[in-house]
Amino acid sequence: MKLPIILSLSAVLFVPVGHVNAVDYTSEIRPILNKKCYKCHSGPRAKGKLRMDSTDSFADRIGGNNPVIIPGNPANSLLTIKAGLPRTDGDSMPPPPARARGAEGMTSVELNLVKQWIAEGAKFSANDPDPSPSTSTPTTTDAPAELLSWTNTQGVSLKASLVAVNATHVKLRKEDGSEFVYPLASLNAASQEQAMKLATP
Ligand code: HEC
Repeated sequence: MKLPIILSLSAVLFVPVGHVNAVDYTSEIRPILNKKCYKCHSGPRAKGKLRMDSTDSFADRIGGNNPVIIPGNPANSLLTIKAGLPRTDGDSMPPPPARARGAEGMTSVELNLVKQWIAEGAKFSANDPDPSPSTSTPTTTDAPAELLSWTNTQGVSLKASLVAVNATHVKLRKEDGSEFVYPLASLNAASQEQAMKLATP
């Protein structure tokens, strides 16, 4: 199958990704919150008045008067404190009764990634869209590229097709049609190899 790969894509085509190893909210943090926290912290009836699925509402709780996240300070951010408490602690998230019913907490890898994101300033991408509801129909391209699994250096995986690759970055498209740019250096060795293989005709 022929993939639409642009080898010498100039850097201007990429959305700004900050410095190369910065943790990316959309591709790395939001999937964790989605999987582990959205169940109770999304929608207008979100628990603890903490709504994570709306960029605006979530941003209201980052810094400001009543923060659950203090940018640059993961050790004092309520969100990572609660997510990091022992699973039997009454203040831990998800709450112990929910865990007893099968709700899973963050793994230590996930928690560390969230902490790193907070340490780096807990930044959203400038035009980060709300994740749900996703009603936009993906624009069809010349070739329906194959969905592949990509894993970053933190061990977090996602499924996406490769849109473009250059010497430093890959551009990936998720199943919902959203695209994002990711530093090659932040992918694990197998995923870097996968990108390079696809780039070679
Ligand atoms: C099964 C439901 C459930 C899940 C899943 C859940 N929470 Fe909560 N969360 C609650 C409830 C209920 C409250 C309000 C009561 C409280 O603060 O203990 C709350 C409150 C919070 C608060 C305090 C908000 C405030 O301002 O007081 C934080 C921070 C939080 N949750 C983080 C998380 C994180 C991070 C996750 C994912 C790892 C998560 N929660 C998953 C039910 C849940």
